[in-house]
Amino acid sequence: MENAVKRIGVLTSGGDSPGMNAAVRAVVRTALYRGIDVIGIRRGWNGLINGDVSRMDANSVAHILNRGGTVLYTARSEEFRTEAGQKKAVATCKLLGIDGIVAIGGDGTFRGCLALARHGISVVGIPGTIDNDIGCSHYSIGYDTAANTAIEAIDRLRDTMQSHERCSVVEVMGHRAGNLAQYVGIATGATAVLVPEHNWDFQTDVAERIRTARLNGRTHFMIIVAEGAFNDDEIMKTPGSAVKVAEMIKEQLGIDPRVTVLGHIQRGGAPNARDRVTATRMGYWAVECLAAGKTNRVVVHQGGTITDMDMEEALSVPHELNASEMSVLEAMIGSDK
Ligand code: F6P
Repeated sequence: MENAVKRIGVLTSGGDSPGMNAAVRAVVRTALYRGIDVIGIRRGWNGLINGDVSRMDANSVAHILNRGGTVLYTARSEEFRTEAGQKKAVATCKLLGIDGIVAIGGDGTFRGCLALARHGISVVGIPGTIDNDIGCSHYSIGYDTAANTAIEAIDRLRDTMQSHERCSVVEVMGHRAGNLAQYVGIATGATAVLVPEHNWDFQTDVAERIRTARLNGRTHFMIIVAEGAFNDDEIMKTPGSAVKVAEMIKEQLGIDPRVTVLGHIQRGGAPNARDRVTATRMGYWAVECLAAGKTNRVVVHQGGTITDMDMEEALSVPHELNASEMSVLEAMIGSDK
């Protein structure tokens, strides 16, 4: 079957996530295998606007499968939000003969894809973010590695919290989503977990949980706070949710918690097996879509299967916390009584 595209571009956009390199590698290798030219676009949409590109061959993606970050660099492009920026990006595609784009990132990246598609360029998005907050896909590249990084750090914190009989308040990333906090909370046996999706109450969800655990003989407490837990744009600008919760604990319970903001450390490091394999499957699938003449698609992970869906439809699927994980978490925290 003849390929519907001749030369495709690949870029990473938004916050980096472990496994993005594996996806880039899979896009390049699958395209070459199919006889399609590949152009690497650096620094996200900015690279397409500025012509910051280079041709990729099998060697350009050698030894990156196991590396964190993204060799293509990444950015959040303000210019690409404008009509003028989009026109420049389209001009680059026309000049270089790029007829398809694979963009790896989150919802914002997919909205960028739609803008390009309106100008006749075929686009396919791949979910890549540690937040796992893309409603249409059960999984986004980087989530599992980021969760494991957070778990390792929290396990270490627990050792010292236990020895000193302290309370630890740990802030995990996730932007406006609590998936990472919820998942990590289950895996670390947290005393309390605060996520933006739930209208939590300090007395019920933190103070009472600490009191109950203390009455049961526990002398150290682990509180996991999603960075977006307060649903407050001001706090989101600088890490502060955990600090705020710690202040409330000190004020209302009289104990002096230690705060750890895990921050960007969760985005770094070598991708684990799940992220390498999922990224490779998704990269392969994205090129298959373009080769088959599909456009405006997002590669999605649904119940273990990699498939694709319409991009506008994908963007309309609301993000939700995994309900069964939430029930499990409630039972585990509740059984601490
Ligand atoms: O989307 C990934 C993410 O790490 C979020 O969890 C976080 O809110 C945001 O990016 C931080 O972005 P920045 O790179 O601008 O600090």
